[in-house]
Amino acid sequence: MERPKPEARLGILISGRGSNMVALVDAVRAGRIPNAKIAIVVSDQPDAAGLAKAAELGIETLVIERRGRHREEHDREVVAALQAREVDLVCLAGYMRVLSREFLDAFSGRILNIHPSLLPSFPGLDAQKQALDHGVKWTGCTVHFVNETLDGGPIIAQRAVRVYDDDTVASLSERILAEEHKLYPEAVALVLERPDHHRP
Ligand code: GRF
Repeated sequence: MERPKPEARLGILISGRGSNMVALVDAVRAGRIPNAKIAIVVSDQPDAAGLAKAAELGIETLVIERRGRHREEHDREVVAALQAREVDLVCLAGYMRVLSREFLDAFSGRILNIHPSLLPSFPGLDAQKQALDHGVKWTGCTVHFVNETLDGGPIIAQRAVRVYDDDTVASLSERILAEEHKLYPEAVALVLERPDHHRP
């Protein structure tokens, strides 16, 4: 008889508001990401609003401040914290820091990110403003695997969002965010369905 798959342990990295983190927690608890558990939420910013939200949800939180530290040294500490909690899958959710080679290698093929555009259009900062400035009629959001290229890794899932003539950065961001909150849990569930997701 086949042994049941062990529960996948997710580590979520944030730097700010944490609304995608909350969407992932809600989805795990509602069974929309089956056979998974949120092991920890790590922030590189001590004042990230998402920290209080995670704590309220009863999730372990950890601040590993990046200020004044080299990327490699900071990442080593984050990786150690994730490994100590036996994290299988790392979800970047508004984590505003590029990962070092060492981090990528430690969780090779097991790091996801969400970005508020239809990649490969508009990578980097202010994706919603980039879309408005460019005059595109459709934009959206993308969940992708993280590699060494900024917002450039293999795409897992995307959702399109209409851009209206009277949209502002705020109104467009809000409509994209609503889709992000649905898309990220779906993409995580999809990745966890892969037979090899649980690589040691
Ligand atoms: C989201 O728009 C996400 O796509 C981008 O940063 C924002 C984070 O928002 N990477 P939140 O912290 O999840 O609310």
